[in-house]
Amino acid sequence: MYKIAVIPGDGTGPEVVREGLKCLSAAGKKFKFQYEAKEFDFSGRRYLATGKLVEDKDVEELKKYSAIYLGAVGDPEVKPGIIETGVLLKLRFALDQYINLRPVKLYSSAFCPLKDKKPEDIDFVVVRENSEGLYKGMGEFKAKGTEDEVAIQISYNTRKGVERCIRYAFEYCRKRNKKKKLTLCGKTNVLTYAWDLWERTFNAVAKDYPDITTDYAHVDATTMWFVKNPEWFDVIVTDNMFGDIITDLGAMIQGGMGIAAGGNINPQGVSMFEPIGGSAPKYTGKNVINPLAAICAAGMMLENLGEEKAGKAVEQAVIKVANKKLKSLAAGKMGYSTAQVGDLVVENL
Ligand code: IPM
Ligand code: MN
Repeated sequence: MYKIAVIPGDGTGPEVVREGLKCLSAAGKKFKFQYEAKEFDFSGRRYLATGKLVEDKDVEELKKYSAIYLGAVGDPEVKPGIIETGVLLKLRFALDQYINLRPVKLYSSAFCPLKDKKPEDIDFVVVRENSEGLYKGMGEFKAKGTEDEVAIQISYNTRKGVERCIRYAFEYCRKRNKKKKLTLCGKTNVLTYAWDLWERTFNAVAKDYPDITTDYAHVDATTMWFVKNPEWFDVIVTDNMFGDIITDLGAMIQGGMGIAAGGNINPQGVSMFEPIGGSAPKYTGKNVINPLAAICAAGMMLENLGEEKAGKAVEQAVIKVANKKLKSLAAGKMGYSTAQVGDLVVENL
């Protein structure tokens, strides 16, 4: 019996989570696994009403769960940064979800903004370090508010933190068993402390994986290859900030935010799965947002729980619906409502 903590959150989060849970329930019946889902209200809305964010006792409670399923957090009424650091980053850090796993997979050529690219050309996974780097929140102001002001933002990289991420990426690449190629995406030519450590660690760990081909690309060039030759990639490992940036581009080449999902993974602890698109305030409550990203996130959660067949089946159902039914992956243009798309996935399961 799995215990799933559900955080619907803000904006369109609750709408897409509802469809994801529909598919989870259908998958449970078909593949005969049982779970109980409990809702947690961590959101911008709750913050506005109570001033509360995620507290340490909430984290302790969440540690009792098998996985967390998150919709989206962020409310336009709340100043940028508060909900992000107080809910999303708080959970990632406190639960030590040190991997952010973001598959970039084109399900249907019709939705690809790149000319002549087919599903077999766009099928790679970004392993983003999720606990360090610029996200650590280290830095300071000097002479704040004066004309001599200096703002310092530190990228904090530990050998242990970098190594566990790189090792995860090698293991993942081996298990994935496709091109068996791992690309380190960095900036060794300019960021000569952080990327020196990353590169040395990468080369040292690579010795344990002679079956994996290794490669290196600067982050700026990586964005170019995403557009020009996405078929070069299999698994990419990178730091927190670069991973954040390149996966938005990744989402676009796979068809947009409506389909992009990710997992915040603690291989020894509680992991959290989410559509990566955000709370989309302007579509809230209209039943027009695309739930496929959230449904894919539910599929990833199942695979992570060990229900691999069920996870794959959810993904296959999404592929069918995207190819055979939807006019577009964009909100309001799918030709179906949010709830209808959820129903279509269930039918195809
Ligand atoms: C993401 C988001 C978050 C991040 C924000 C909302 C803090 O952009 O999950 O990619 O920067 O990691
Ligand atoms: Mn992002």
